[in-house]
Amino acid sequence: MLAPNPTPLLSHDQIQERVRSLAAEIARDLDPEMPVLVLGLLRGCFVFVADLIRALSREGVQVREVDFIIVSSYGSGTTSSGNINIERDMSTDPAGKQVLLVDDILDTGNTLKAIRDTYLAGREFGSLKTCVLLDKPSRRTVELNADYVGFSIEDYFVVGYGLDYDQKHRELPHIAVMSEEE
Ligand code: XMP
Repeated sequence: MLAPNPTPLLSHDQIQERVRSLAAEIARDLDPEMPVLVLGLLRGCFVFVADLIRALSREGVQVREVDFIIVSSYGSGTTSSGNINIERDMSTDPAGKQVLLVDDILDTGNTLKAIRDTYLAGREFGSLKTCVLLDKPSRRTVELNADYVGFSIEDYFVVGYGLDYDQKHRELPHIAVMSEEE
């Protein structure tokens, strides 16, 4: 049976330290005059967003609004596709705001590309930057990189820190690889 490997891939302390340095990078690039909208892609990102906005605040960035989109994509098996379905739309107007689009994992890139090129393309916003906690570059099928990446990892299926396997293990404070139980 599959279970989270007891040895963390990324410890809670490693994640916290990286969130802190990511927030510093993001803060350096923001225009202090334009309001910031953090837009998370649910569901896996909710823990990351919670830590990121507090880390941004410690860097002197007051996030004006936080909003979320729930998006599903029709794919085969565990691979997403570019055909996304917006299950929950944002309720904030992004016009005149610096949008920080936050996702948990950049895998094939299909989801983030569709959000950027289709969903957000028809809307007005001040600027757009993308931020992901984890990147699996070896899985990429479309040309896309995030502006801010927490950690690059190998092609593992990971859980914890908001990420799930069949809705389980989101509560783990660290990130672990799902593997066969010994
Ligand atoms: P794409 O392929 O469109 O998909 O970049 C990104 C989404 O796929 C999910 N995903 C994972 N979820 N552990 C998870 O819990 C993983 O290892 C994993 N890899 C991809 C995730 O929802 C991400 O937003």
